[in-house]
Amino acid sequence: MSNTIQRTAVLTGATSERGIGLATARRYAREGWAVVILDLDGEKSAKVAAEIGNEFNVPAFGHAVDVASEDSVTAAHGAVQAEVAASNLPTVGALVNIAGITSPVSFLETTLELWNKIFAVNATGTYLVTKAFLPEMISSGWGRIVNMSSVSAQRGGGVFGKVPYSSAKAAILGFTKALARELGDSGVTINAITPGAVDTNIRVGSTDEQEAALARDIPVGRTATTEEIAAVITFLSSDDAAYLTGTTVDINGGSHLH
Ligand SMILES: NC(=O)c1ccc[n+]([C@@H]2O[C@H](COP(=O)([O-])OP(=O)(O)OC[C@H]3O[C@@H](n4cnc5c(N)ncnc54)[C@H](O)[C@@H]3O)[C@@H](O)[C@H]2O)c1
Repeated sequence: MSNTIQRTAVLTGATSERGIGLATARRYAREGWAVVILDLDGEKSAKVAAEIGNEFNVPAFGHAVDVASEDSVTAAHGAVQAEVAASNLPTVGALVNIAGITSPVSFLETTLELWNKIFAVNATGTYLVTKAFLPEMISSGWGRIVNMSSVSAQRGGGVFGKVPYSSAKAAILGFTKALARELGDSGVTINAITPGAVDTNIRVGSTDEQEAALARDIPVGRTATTEEIAAVITFLSSDDAAYLTGTTVDINGGSHLH
């Protein structure tokens, strides 16, 4: 096990095989961070974390969380604190709120239940997990929070960027800006990223034709790789990014139509 671990990163929504979260967890590990994965399936989170830990020779563990449930977030936070103490790891320095869900349903077909579910995971989940992990960052005087919004928050549209999803991802932008002001000179920064289309499982269900039309609409002519998103997230978690807070970083291949 590496003995040069300086910092610990917590990521929600990081077990999906082709997902942005897993690519980002791997990137943190590659850069020498200890990694904590929180996702719906606790066993899968632990397994994925163990694989990353072995591959990159860093401490890594995973726990179950439903980010939409306060009780579940409280339990996961307690488990992480216990494990960090037991393994003598640095307190959590970076939190990446990646867990998210969407639905391709058009507006008149939405139900209040679907609206609430999409807000609960994307927006309320970001609130609950941030509230749980923020106090230790403030006490240590250093922290980096990165929130996953989407280009859908800025321009709507796309097969998956329907009304509830775009609205919940837009809520994350307001949350990020307002909290950045409150955090002031605490040493904790909070930023949001707004990826355009990234090739992951969340896009399963769209047709080849829809994907081709999408690529035509992107100036660089292709969707993003998960690694391209991960690189921005880890940069925002670095010492070099200390003067970036409350910002929204667009990662959309030039689709600046907002
Ligand atoms: N793929 C894209 O085109 C794209 C573009 C912009 C933003 N995003 C956002 O990036 C994030 C990751 O998306 P992805 O494309 O890797 O999708 P994905 O579906 O592969 O990953 C989503 C992850 O979130 C987890 N998750 C879902 N509900 C949860 C809950 N209640 N509690 C804890 N974990 C939960 C899932 O288990 C999964 O691991 C999402 O927030 C998504 O909205 C994706």
